[in-house]
Amino acid sequence: MARIELKDVRKVYGGNIEAIKGVSLDIEDGEMIVLVGPSGCGKSTLLRMVAGLEGISSGEVTIADKRVNELEPAERDIAMVFQNYALYPHMTVRQNLAYGLKNRNTPKDEIDRRITEAARALEIEPFLERKPRQLSGGQRQRVAMGRAIVRKPAAFLFDEPLSNLDAKLRVQMRVEIRRLQRSLATTSIYVTHDQMEAMTLADRLVVLNAGRIEQVGTPIELYEKPATTFVATFIGSPSMNLMKLGEDAGWKMSPDARLPNNAATIGIRPEDIVIANGNVPGAVRAEVQVAAVELVGAESYVHAVTADGSPVVFRVPGRSGIQIGETMALTADATRFHLFDAAGKRV
Ligand SMILES: Nc1ncnc2c1ncn2[C@@H]1O[C@H](COP(=O)(O)OP(=O)(O)OP(=O)(O)O)[C@@H](O)[C@H]1O
Ligand SMILES: [Mg+2]
Repeated sequence: MARIELKDVRKVYGGNIEAIKGVSLDIEDGEMIVLVGPSGCGKSTLLRMVAGLEGISSGEVTIADKRVNELEPAERDIAMVFQNYALYPHMTVRQNLAYGLKNRNTPKDEIDRRITEAARALEIEPFLERKPRQLSGGQRQRVAMGRAIVRKPAAFLFDEPLSNLDAKLRVQMRVEIRRLQRSLATTSIYVTHDQMEAMTLADRLVVLNAGRIEQVGTPIELYEKPATTFVATFIGSPSMNLMKLGEDAGWKMSPDARLPNNAATIGIRPEDIVIANGNVPGAVRAEVQVAAVELVGAESYVHAVTADGSPVVFRVPGRSGIQIGETMALTADATRFHLFDAAGKRV
């Protein structure tokens, strides 16, 4: 078990592609950190630098207070789980689990003990004598997890380990990984671009944008107080609605609404918009026309456009009965506003 520290870490590929532009982060012992961000923002690069699979152009990475910049992956006491888990096809599950330990000259009875323990935790005991091809995708992914667990590393590094699985299995494995990580209390870095995974797995979430940290915090902190418009629109589904002040985007401010002078953009979450039938009071108001209604089960997402054509999304419970083409008034309360300045920083 170990802390992981990144100190002004940078990665330049081929002399001119700056993939990581100075990232500093302290990861506590036993903490689960999730890295999220759009494709190409540097998540895998950062993880691979911690793993030792990519060189570190400048800055320092420490694991358990030891500088690891110059250490080979095998010397860093970490275990990685990838999307592509590549089990050895000719070996049984038991042999796959034992392989890494044998290479490290772990005594046989210790290997057996660890395999029994991991197989029980992952509920793969019935499959220990099977070959990988005789397993389902989820079972294989659990074996890949098992291979990491039996090593008892100082840290787990995950790069989109569930993205090959179907939706239902992803949810199951997500819960499983969370439970295991908690009970083992092994420091972990988990890369995903799946919002739900990020929100549910993380002790703290790190949002990366073009090689830089945009914000670090607990999932709910990021949801309730996004530091920038980037985080505001990245975290949350459907995305937060943003409207520029001053431009007539079809939203009218109520005369008694007072906003700070430096506020340039208002953000409103889809759940904070109310249909203003019977004149529900609010700080902003818009007449909109419904463009699409997505019924997703317990609720519906209504996609509408204001008079000037700006899109707005809001949520309503269940089968709303709202029809495409329908017009309605929307309103939102100022206490629910997220305000940002002209540079996109939270006010
Ligand atoms: N070997 C390489 N040589 C040059 N550029 C690279 C190399 N590997 C990655 N990059 C670039 O570095 C940036 C970060 O890539 P990275 O793979 O870390 O992104 P990511 O956040 O993991 O994206 P995704 O969600 O698509 O997996 C990208 O712009 C990518 O094109
Ligand atoms: Mg990646």
